[in-house]
Amino acid sequence: MALQIQALGKEDISEATRLHLRAFATDPLVNAIYPGAAESPNWLQHISTSIKTGQADPSQHLMKVTLPEDGQLMGIGQWEGCSRYISSPPSTPKPPPNGANIALVTAYRKQRSEKRAAIMGDRPHYSDLALLATESTYRRQGVARTLVEWGTDRASAEGVEAYLEAGPAALPFYFEMDFHKVDTMAVAGMDPGEDRVQNEIYCLLWRPQTISSK
Ligand SMILES: CC(C)(COP(=O)(O)OP(=O)(O)OC[C@H]1O[C@@H](n2cnc3c(N)ncnc32)[C@H](O)[C@@H]1OP(=O)(O)O)[C@@H](O)C(=O)NCCC(=O)NCCS
Repeated sequence: MALQIQALGKEDISEATRLHLRAFATDPLVNAIYPGAAESPNWLQHISTSIKTGQADPSQHLMKVTLPEDGQLMGIGQWEGCSRYISSPPSTPKPPPNGANIALVTAYRKQRSEKRAAIMGDRPHYSDLALLATESTYRRQGVARTLVEWGTDRASAEGVEAYLEAGPAALPFYFEMDFHKVDTMAVAGMDPGEDRVQNEIYCLLWRPQTISSK
């Protein structure tokens, strides 16, 4: 099936928010940050605002993959373009929603930005494939691949890297997309769970051939 990828429109915000909530309902990090996130109006509002803010920011690219016959959302993803790393520092992160574990969010954001600065320095790159989610009924049909390759194709054309963080569940998918693990961090203050990896976040790097071959 030929998948269509386009910019997410204002008319998609409500459905995209709900798709995201469903996809991350059992995600350990989301639930550590906001216990009961999937049922919470505050969390729903937080995701909806993130999508709206991203749409208003020219360095963000909110994309959707839809069913060709009726335009139904199959998956969404938000890339951050590399331009801001060349021209301006990253914007101030938005405050977490009421009810969030503020200490955990604050510590995690600090960990992330320190790790990212150490790994990427001031090299321009595409980043933060945030919100990436495929509706469960459409998984393993290349939806997320289409969303990821939209960004890595642009990174390749510009000769820059792509960098993101992911949890254990998404690791096999990103390896398949040619991302490589360059570091790991244990989220401070988060229960590692029975399998001892739930609090592990992996720092993943994708390199264009022009860089890989040097
Ligand atoms: C991770 C996720 C986005 C993958 O979406 P998807 O549309 O099913 O992925 P694709 O069909 O494009 O997968 C491409 C390839 O990645 C690999 N892959 C994808 N999901 C996988 C899984 N659960 N386990 C192992 N490999 C997987 C496969 O090699 C797959 O190719 P194949 O189906 O031909 O074998 C989806 O499972 C999801 O929405 N999960 C919940 C939210 C989430 O974790 N988002 C990522 C946050 S960082």
